Amino acid sequence: MRRFLWGIVKAVLFRLDAEQAHHVTTALIRIGIRFGGWPLRIASGAPALRQSKKSISVFGLEFGGRVGLAAGFDKNAEILEGLPDLGFAFAEIGTVTPRSQPGNDRPRLFRDIPRKAIFNRMGFNGLGATMVSQKLRAVRPNLPAGFRVGVNLGKNKDTPLEQAAEDYRIAAQAFEGLADYLVINVSSPNTPGLRSLQTMEALKPMVGAVRQEISKWQIRPPLLLKLAPELTREELAALMPACEAVGVDGWVFTNTLGGNWADGKPGGWSGGPLSELALQKLKEARTLTRLPLISVGGILTVDEAKARIAAGADLVQIYTGWIYGGPGFPAELSRALD
Ligand SMILES: Cc1cc2nc3c(=O)[nH]c(=O)nc-3n(C[C@H](O)[C@H](O)[C@H](O)COP(=O)(O)O)c2cc1C
Repeated sequence: MRRFLWGIVKAVLFRLDAEQAHHVTTALIRIGIRFGGWPLRIASGAPALRQSKKSISVFGLEFGGRVGLAAGFDKNAEILEGLPDLGFAFAEIGTVTPRSQPGNDRPRLFRDIPRKAIFNRMGFNGLGATMVSQKLRAVRPNLPAGFRVGVNLGKNKDTPLEQAAEDYRIAAQAFEGLADYLVINVSSPNTPGLRSLQTMEALKPMVGAVRQEISKWQIRPPLLLKLAPELTREELAALMPACEAVGVDGWVFTNTLGGNWADGKPGGWSGGPLSELALQKLKEARTLTRLPLISVGGILTVDEAKARIAAGADLVQIYTGWIYGGPGFPAELSRALD
């Protein structure tokens, strides 16, 4: 019955422009939250996380399951209260930039249905760190124990690359006492020059600035780095130990795969085109670190999620797999990985 209903909803959503469909989905989830979450539990088939007795310890934090929502879906912390009822054990909000910004011109989000892929060039559209942190502060008390919230940090488009470190610090500052973990995102293809920051020369001051900021906090969240799938094994071998030496506590592999849409404009691929490469990067990373790894990119099936755990991922995140797999997919993954 659930699959049948999802088939109908999917047919309607997939007739809409992709960004419009995103807004409709978010609105539906917010309605579900307003009704106390039961419509979401029915749609997802997820048991309430608060009843879950199993938990997994990663970065010294207890997670109520291994499956999380990847960054970019809930950029502004607007649907967090609904995510446990949709089968997620954690979510990464953001990317959050210090100041609000509109992102790139539309259209900027597309589906490639035969390849189970999404292409985006959103460009860090968001409300900015102050506003997003206020939203997170308001909902935090309502989130069940065992549900974790990571905050993915970025720089504003108009901040010069030389001043990027300060942007990451300012964005982090707003989340004192609110973020379970922080992620420095230097791997989105949609902010000009961002990926050029994936060098030790650029990362050292950036990690240092965020570290210094959180060293003042009473509870210091783990600090992760999210990298691009295009980095070679040699580049990872140079970067990872050096970053860990300056205070990186774990890794998120990977962000979207750079490419062009049919209109010739650049952006990033998620879903099918990323599966193999994301698994390969995870395997390479696992040989280079003993720290926790979050695997994301092209997890479209239960088997793919199992392969990521077998390859050494501690946690997995999904975005495109949820769009194509529907509301039952996170709970299905979660049960399979238990
Ligand atoms: C529309 C869209 C927006 C995204 N925005 C962000 C973002 O703001 N920050 C980020 O780190 N990753 C962002 N991502 C990348 C995802 O977090 C994830 O790394 C990528 O989509 C691969 O996972 P998937 O194949 O499960 O979608 C975005 C992805 C999509 C499709």
